[in-house]
Amino acid sequence: MLIDTHCHLTDQAILPDQAAVVQRAIAVGVQRMITIGTGPEDHLRVVDAIGLYPQVFGAIAVHPHLAGEIPSDFIAAMRALFAGQPRLLAVGECGLDYHGPSANAALQRPVFIQQLELARQLKLPAILHVRDAHADALSIMADYADVPHVVHCFTGTAEEADRWLKRGAYVGITGIVTYKNAPDVRAVAMLVPENRLLVETDSPYLSPEPVRKIKINEPAFVVHVAARVAAQRGVCAEALAQSTTANARRLFGPRLE
Ligand code: NI
Repeated sequence: MLIDTHCHLTDQAILPDQAAVVQRAIAVGVQRMITIGTGPEDHLRVVDAIGLYPQVFGAIAVHPHLAGEIPSDFIAAMRALFAGQPRLLAVGECGLDYHGPSANAALQRPVFIQQLELARQLKLPAILHVRDAHADALSIMADYADVPHVVHCFTGTAEEADRWLKRGAYVGITGIVTYKNAPDVRAVAMLVPENRLLVETDSPYLSPEPVRKIKINEPAFVVHVAARVAAQRGVCAEALAQSTTANARRLFGPRLE
Protein backbone atom coordinates (compact mmCIF):
# COMPACT_ATOMS: atom_id res chain seq x y z
CA MET A 1 0.00 0.00 0.00
CA LEU A 2 1.03 3.59 -0.69
CA ILE A 3 -0.10 6.88 0.82
CA ASP A 4 -0.35 10.00 -1.33
CA THR A 5 0.63 12.48 1.37
CA HIS A 6 -0.21 15.58 -0.65
CA CYS A 7 -2.93 16.01 -3.25
CA HIS A 8 -5.61 18.55 -4.08
CA LEU A 9 -8.81 16.59 -4.60
CA THR A 10 -10.79 19.83 -4.30
CA ASP A 11 -8.99 21.57 -7.15
CA GLN A 12 -11.33 22.42 -10.03
CA ALA A 13 -9.30 20.11 -12.29
CA ILE A 14 -10.26 17.10 -10.13
CA LEU A 15 -13.44 18.07 -8.29
CA PRO A 16 -15.99 17.10 -11.00
CA ASP A 17 -14.36 13.65 -11.22
CA GLN A 18 -13.47 13.32 -7.52
CA ALA A 19 -15.21 10.04 -6.69
CA ALA A 20 -13.74 8.27 -9.73
CA VAL A 21 -10.28 9.69 -8.96
CA VAL A 22 -10.44 8.29 -5.40
CA GLN A 23 -11.62 4.92 -6.69
CA ARG A 24 -8.80 4.72 -9.26
CA ALA A 25 -6.27 5.39 -6.47
CA ILE A 26 -7.70 2.66 -4.25
CA ALA A 27 -7.69 0.26 -7.20
CA VAL A 28 -3.89 0.55 -7.59
CA GLY A 29 -3.16 0.27 -3.85
CA VAL A 30 -3.11 3.94 -2.87
CA GLN A 31 -5.33 3.38 0.11
CA ARG A 32 -4.80 6.69 1.89
CA MET A 33 -4.72 10.22 0.53
CA ILE A 34 -4.23 13.52 2.31
CA THR A 35 -6.03 16.28 0.47
CA ILE A 36 -4.78 19.80 1.09
CA GLY A 37 -6.99 22.88 1.39
CA THR A 38 -5.21 26.07 0.34
CA GLY A 39 -7.56 28.84 1.50
CA PRO A 40 -10.81 29.52 3.42
CA GLU A 41 -13.23 28.39 0.67
CA ASP A 42 -11.14 25.38 -0.19
CA HIS A 43 -11.07 24.32 3.48
CA LEU A 44 -14.82 23.75 3.35
CA ARG A 45 -14.46 21.60 0.24
CA VAL A 46 -11.79 19.54 2.04
CA VAL A 47 -14.17 18.98 4.96
CA ASP A 48 -16.77 17.74 2.44
CA ALA A 49 -14.25 15.37 0.82
CA ILE A 50 -13.07 13.77 4.06
CA GLY A 51 -16.69 13.16 4.96
CA LEU A 52 -17.30 11.32 1.71
CA TYR A 53 -14.39 8.86 1.52
CA PRO A 54 -12.93 6.86 4.43
CA GLN A 55 -9.57 6.71 2.56
CA VAL A 56 -9.27 10.49 2.36
CA PHE A 57 -7.86 12.64 5.16
CA GLY A 58 -7.27 16.37 5.11
CA ALA A 59 -4.97 19.23 5.97
CA ILE A 60 -5.86 22.91 5.87
CA ALA A 61 -3.85 26.13 5.84
CA VAL A 62 -3.40 29.29 3.85
CA HIS A 63 -1.01 28.78 0.94
CA PRO A 64 1.68 31.50 0.71
CA HIS A 65 0.27 32.56 -2.69
CA LEU A 66 -2.95 33.53 -0.90
CA ALA A 67 -1.32 35.32 2.02
CA GLY A 68 -2.64 38.69 0.82
CA GLU A 69 -6.26 37.60 0.34
CA ILE A 70 -7.33 36.24 3.70
CA PRO A 71 -9.76 37.57 6.29
CA SER A 72 -8.19 38.80 9.53
CA ASP A 73 -9.91 36.04 11.55
CA PHE A 74 -8.58 33.17 9.42
CA ILE A 75 -6.83 31.48 12.34
CA ALA A 76 -10.06 31.38 14.37
CA ALA A 77 -11.90 29.89 11.39
CA MET A 78 -9.24 27.20 10.96
CA ARG A 79 -9.26 26.44 14.67
CA ALA A 80 -13.03 25.88 14.54
CA LEU A 81 -12.68 23.45 11.63
CA PHE A 82 -9.94 21.46 13.37
CA ALA A 83 -12.04 21.24 16.52
CA GLY A 84 -14.89 19.52 14.70
CA GLN A 85 -12.88 17.36 12.30
CA PRO A 86 -10.53 14.71 13.72
CA ARG A 87 -9.75 13.63 10.14
CA LEU A 88 -7.93 16.94 9.54
CA LEU A 89 -4.42 15.75 10.35
CA ALA A 90 -2.14 18.73 9.79
CA VAL A 91 -1.74 22.45 9.31
CA GLY A 92 -0.72 22.75 5.68
CA GLU A 93 0.26 23.74 3.25
CA CYS A 94 1.80 26.90 4.65
CA GLY A 95 5.20 28.46 4.15
CA LEU A 96 7.14 30.82 1.95
CA ASP A 97 7.25 31.07 -1.83
CA TYR A 98 9.56 33.73 -3.23
CA HIS A 99 9.33 32.46 -6.79
CA GLY A 100 8.26 35.06 -9.34
CA PRO A 101 7.97 38.84 -9.31
CA SER A 102 4.67 39.02 -7.39
CA ALA A 103 6.01 37.21 -4.31
CA ASN A 104 5.63 39.33 -1.18
CA ALA A 105 7.88 38.07 1.59
CA ALA A 106 6.72 40.69 4.10
CA LEU A 107 3.14 39.53 3.64
CA GLN A 108 3.90 35.80 3.71
CA ARG A 109 6.06 35.63 6.81
CA PRO A 110 3.50 36.65 9.48
CA VAL A 111 0.84 34.40 7.91
CA PHE A 112 3.28 31.49 8.02
CA ILE A 113 4.23 32.18 11.64
CA GLN A 114 0.62 32.48 12.82
CA GLN A 115 -0.08 29.05 11.35
CA LEU A 116 2.95 27.51 13.01
CA GLU A 117 1.63 28.88 16.30
CA LEU A 118 -1.69 27.19 15.58
CA ALA A 119 0.03 23.88 14.79
CA ARG A 120 1.94 24.10 18.05
CA GLN A 121 -1.19 24.86 20.07
CA LEU A 122 -3.16 22.03 18.44
CA LYS A 123 -0.16 19.66 18.63
CA LEU A 124 -0.46 18.96 14.91
CA PRO A 125 2.27 18.51 12.31
CA ALA A 126 2.81 21.14 9.60
CA ILE A 127 3.08 20.66 5.85
CA LEU A 128 5.48 23.26 4.51
CA HIS A 129 5.50 24.78 1.05
CA VAL A 130 8.96 26.28 0.52
CA ARG A 131 10.05 27.55 -2.87
CA ASP A 132 13.15 29.69 -3.42
CA ALA A 133 12.92 30.56 0.29
CA HIS A 134 14.82 27.86 2.18
CA ALA A 135 17.07 30.20 4.20
CA ASP A 136 14.14 32.24 5.54
CA ALA A 137 11.96 29.19 6.17
CA LEU A 138 14.77 27.44 8.04
CA SER A 139 15.33 30.52 10.15
CA ILE A 140 11.62 30.73 11.08
CA MET A 141 11.45 27.00 11.81
CA ALA A 142 14.34 27.32 14.25
CA ASP A 143 11.72 28.63 16.69
CA TYR A 144 9.32 25.74 15.97
CA ALA A 145 11.52 22.70 16.41
CA ASP A 146 8.71 21.10 18.44
CA VAL A 147 6.32 21.17 15.44
CA PRO A 148 6.90 18.02 13.34
CA HIS A 149 6.96 18.95 9.67
CA VAL A 150 7.45 17.87 6.08
CA VAL A 151 8.90 20.07 3.37
CA HIS A 152 6.52 19.05 0.64
CA CYS A 153 7.41 18.94 -3.08
CA PHE A 154 11.05 19.44 -2.26
CA THR A 155 12.79 21.40 -5.03
CA GLY A 156 15.85 22.70 -3.18
CA THR A 157 19.42 21.53 -3.47
CA ALA A 158 21.02 18.56 -1.74
CA GLU A 159 22.69 20.99 0.65
CA GLU A 160 19.35 22.59 1.54
CA ALA A 161 17.81 19.16 2.05
CA ASP A 162 20.64 18.33 4.39
CA ARG A 163 19.92 21.43 6.50
CA TRP A 164 16.24 20.46 6.77
CA LEU A 165 17.08 16.87 7.65
CA LYS A 166 19.40 18.01 10.44
CA ARG A 167 16.39 19.84 11.88
CA GLY A 168 14.34 16.65 11.86
CA ALA A 169 12.20 17.47 8.82
CA TYR A 170 10.56 14.92 6.56
CA VAL A 171 11.03 15.46 2.82
CA GLY A 172 8.22 15.01 0.28
CA ILE A 173 9.12 13.90 -3.25
CA THR A 174 6.73 14.48 -6.17
CA GLY A 175 6.67 13.47 -9.83
CA ILE A 176 9.37 16.05 -10.53
CA VAL A 177 11.73 13.19 -9.65
CA THR A 178 10.77 11.60 -13.00
CA TYR A 179 11.58 14.68 -15.08
CA LYS A 180 14.66 14.70 -17.25
CA ASN A 181 15.71 18.18 -16.12
CA ALA A 182 15.50 17.49 -12.37
CA PRO A 183 18.86 15.97 -11.29
CA ASP A 184 18.73 17.92 -8.01
CA VAL A 185 15.45 16.32 -6.98
CA ARG A 186 16.81 12.87 -7.85
CA ALA A 187 19.91 13.60 -5.76
CA VAL A 188 17.69 14.60 -2.84
CA ALA A 189 15.51 11.50 -3.28
CA MET A 190 18.66 9.42 -2.83
CA LEU A 191 20.13 11.19 0.18
CA VAL A 192 17.04 11.38 2.42
CA PRO A 193 17.29 8.72 5.16
CA GLU A 194 14.77 5.89 4.84
CA ASN A 195 12.85 7.08 7.91
CA ARG A 196 12.29 10.66 6.64
CA LEU A 197 11.06 10.14 3.10
CA LEU A 198 7.49 10.72 1.90
CA VAL A 199 5.99 10.39 -1.57
CA GLU A 200 3.21 12.56 -2.93
CA THR A 201 1.61 13.66 -6.19
CA ASP A 202 0.67 17.31 -5.52
CA SER A 203 -2.05 16.46 -8.04
CA PRO A 204 -3.58 17.88 -10.19
CA TYR A 205 -0.16 19.45 -10.79
CA LEU A 206 3.12 17.76 -11.73
CA SER A 207 2.00 14.60 -13.55
CA PRO A 208 4.91 12.15 -13.42
CA GLU A 209 6.39 10.28 -16.35
CA PRO A 210 5.08 8.24 -18.13
CA VAL A 211 1.78 10.15 -18.01
CA ARG A 212 3.33 13.62 -18.00
CA LYS A 213 1.61 15.92 -20.53
CA ILE A 214 -0.82 13.08 -21.26
CA LYS A 215 -3.02 12.97 -18.16
CA ILE A 216 -4.00 15.34 -15.38
CA ASN A 217 -2.21 14.17 -12.25
CA GLU A 218 -4.18 12.22 -9.62
CA PRO A 219 -3.31 10.21 -6.49
CA ALA A 220 -3.16 6.88 -8.39
CA PHE A 221 -0.01 8.18 -10.09
CA VAL A 222 1.94 8.26 -6.83
CA VAL A 223 2.75 4.71 -7.94
CA HIS A 224 4.98 6.21 -10.69
CA VAL A 225 6.64 8.57 -8.20
CA ALA A 226 7.36 5.72 -5.79
CA ALA A 227 8.70 3.47 -8.58
CA ARG A 228 11.18 6.11 -9.66
CA VAL A 229 12.29 6.89 -6.12
CA ALA A 230 12.73 3.17 -5.39
CA ALA A 231 14.81 2.68 -8.56
CA GLN A 232 16.92 5.70 -7.69
CA ARG A 233 17.59 4.33 -4.18
CA GLY A 234 18.12 0.79 -5.40
CA VAL A 235 15.36 -0.70 -3.27
CA CYS A 236 12.33 -2.70 -4.33
CA ALA A 237 8.97 -0.98 -4.72
CA GLU A 238 7.52 -2.93 -1.81
CA ALA A 239 10.23 -1.84 0.62
CA LEU A 240 9.80 1.78 -0.40
CA ALA A 241 6.02 1.54 0.02
CA GLN A 242 6.48 0.09 3.50
CA SER A 243 8.97 2.67 4.72
CA THR A 244 7.14 5.70 3.28
CA THR A 245 3.82 4.47 4.69
CA ALA A 246 5.39 4.01 8.14
CA ASN A 247 6.88 7.51 7.88
CA ALA A 248 3.52 9.07 6.96
CA ARG A 249 1.90 7.38 9.94
CA ARG A 250 4.65 8.52 12.28
CA LEU A 251 4.36 12.13 11.06
CA PHE A 252 0.57 12.40 10.74
CA GLY A 253 -0.33 10.21 13.68
CA PRO A 254 -2.39 7.12 14.43
CA ARG A 255 -5.58 8.64 13.04
CA LEU A 256 -4.19 7.96 9.56
CA GLU A 257 -4.54 4.21 10.18
NI1 NI B 1 0.12 21.50 -2.88
